Amino acid sequence: MANIALLLGLEKSQVTLHEVLSGDAEVSEAIYEGPGGVKVVPCGISLQGFQNSDPEKLQKAMIDLVEGRDFILIDAPAGISKDGVIPLAIADQVLLVVNPELSSMADALKTKVLTEMLGGNIGGALLNRAGLERTEINKHKVSELLGVTVLEMIPEDSNVRRSAAFKMPIVIKSPTSPAAIAYKRLASHFAGTDFIEPEITLEEPTEAFVGRLARVLFGSK
Ligand SMILES: Nc1ncnc2c1ncn2[C@@H]1O[C@H](COP(=O)(O)OP(=O)(O)OP(=O)(O)O)[C@@H](O)[C@H]1O
Ligand SMILES: [Mg+2]
Repeated sequence: MANIALLLGLEKSQVTLHEVLSGDAEVSEAIYEGPGGVKVVPCGISLQGFQNSDPEKLQKAMIDLVEGRDFILIDAPAGISKDGVIPLAIADQVLLVVNPELSSMADALKTKVLTEMLGGNIGGALLNRAGLERTEINKHKVSELLGVTVLEMIPEDSNVRRSAAFKMPIVIKSPTSPAAIAYKRLASHFAGTDFIEPEITLEEPTEAFVGRLARVLFGSK
């Protein structure tokens, strides 16, 4: 049950991946236009919908989705649930997202081993929420520990939570924030395009906590 629908304001979508996986809809009916033209297949957030879904239909849905698209990102949960395992096996590349914490590294290692057991392919790792750890030496250490290349280090950045409150991707809401720049650099890596580093804007104007909470609860702009 990924949160992407909630984060992009698509939580009221009638047809979601759950309906597709329970055989009640075609995947083409579950594609929605998200911010910046990105196409999104939301997961659905009801527990009932989740119980009805058959993860084995995911492979067929992915085959239908792949047609005519350059990139498909699957947000897979950590752990060994059926819906978590299938994406590891069917993806061209699995990206391990790790926080600089021992438990997160251990989870990533388990996911890596599981992926390899399933005959899947690890594309690399992202070190997210990196603070003082964001040094080349630590990047190297994490690479060594996981046995995979660390493709990017995403800094701890309050703009991530802020853009979520606005239900917008950080690369649109705060395009020159440190985390957005790191994500864009990563995207260029996959797209094979040159990345021109913009100047970083460190802090967006802060907003009172109550205002932020009201926006999350009531969706005001
Ligand atoms: N680079 C970052 N800087 C600051 N906060 C971040 C950053 N990345 C994620 N967060 C915050 O951490 C929280 C968890 O993030 P996220 O939902 O992406 O984690 P997750 O590992 O996918 O969780 P889950 O296992 O529930 O799917 C969110 O509140 C998010 O705003
Ligand atoms: Mg998640």
